[in-house]
Amino acid sequence: MPALDPKFADISIIDLIRYGGSEFIRQGLSFGHSFDNAMDEATQLTLHALKLPHDLSPVYGNAKVTEEERREVLALFARRIDERIPACYLTGEAWFAGLLFKTDERALVPRSPIAELIEARFEPWTSTHDIYRALDMCTGSGCIAIAMGHYQPHWEVHGVDISEDALSLAEENKERLMADNAHFIRSNLFDDLQGEIYDLIVTNPPYVTHEETDALPEEYAHEPDLGLRAGDDGLDFALKIMRDAPDHLTDEGLLICEVGESEHALMRLLPDVNFEWIEFKVGQMGIFSIDRHELVHHHAQIKALADARA
Ligand SMILES: C[S@@+](CC[C@H](N)C(=O)[O-])C[C@H]1O[C@@H](n2cnc3c(N)ncnc32)[C@H](O)[C@@H]1O
Repeated sequence: MPALDPKFADISIIDLIRYGGSEFIRQGLSFGHSFDNAMDEATQLTLHALKLPHDLSPVYGNAKVTEEERREVLALFARRIDERIPACYLTGEAWFAGLLFKTDERALVPRSPIAELIEARFEPWTSTHDIYRALDMCTGSGCIAIAMGHYQPHWEVHGVDISEDALSLAEENKERLMADNAHFIRSNLFDDLQGEIYDLIVTNPPYVTHEETDALPEEYAHEPDLGLRAGDDGLDFALKIMRDAPDHLTDEGLLICEVGESEHALMRLLPDVNFEWIEFKVGQMGIFSIDRHELVHHHAQIKALADARA
């Protein structure tokens, strides 16, 4: 990364952010880990290095930085560019559903659109039945489980992951956000959840195809492969979750599942299933809702497809 001209010492916070944004674009970085553009990442890194709050009033934008501060900001920019580390891993924090989570390489950076559903308290998806117990299958950092518990303090929420690393981060987030109604369990999908019944299962499982995973920008290599890779069509996990969810849902229970771009493959495999593809503020995001009755109705077909996976 080119060094700033040492003569150009009299620079402000806004100068640094502008410079970082330009460099990030010039160097062809990829965005998509919580922030979707260069200026937001440059802002986040600058404020972090300067130990300033993320909601700093713009009136401080013209404040000058010391030479040491400038060096610290530029060092972070350099790591973002040279090592392609997502900004949230460099700062160690990411926003999700209005809550600030700890994030590091033990789990994916929280970014699921499911945050919007949680903040809307799942209306209208859950308006027809009461919810007492909810499961976040494939919880990673614990973001979905903890946010569900935060917005619905009367719910008991379980978060499940197979990764010990992810679960240790989830426990740290539970403590940080005082999420007393969220509990984390290690399990390979539903294997160790015998007898557990939920009114709602929410899941953002791995759903990236092998081909897409191998072609992802370098930034994604900092995230655990276990959180992304999901077979040739990206549906290895979603199909198993659909197969086993009826055993863990109440009669009126609901499954909400994110499959991203694998939505098209899923509809090709199961054209008769009535998936309700959820509309978000920005449009459809490959997230469907399906009730237990519909899962049971198509169980034989779903099971055959899921059983054929490794
Ligand atoms: C796409 S990440 C989602 C993480 C988190 N829910 C989020 O939205 O940021 C998928 C998660 O599934 C977990 N996972 C992978 N295989 C699993 C399995 N067999 N059983 C349970 N969890 C699994 C990974 O460890 C990873 O944390």
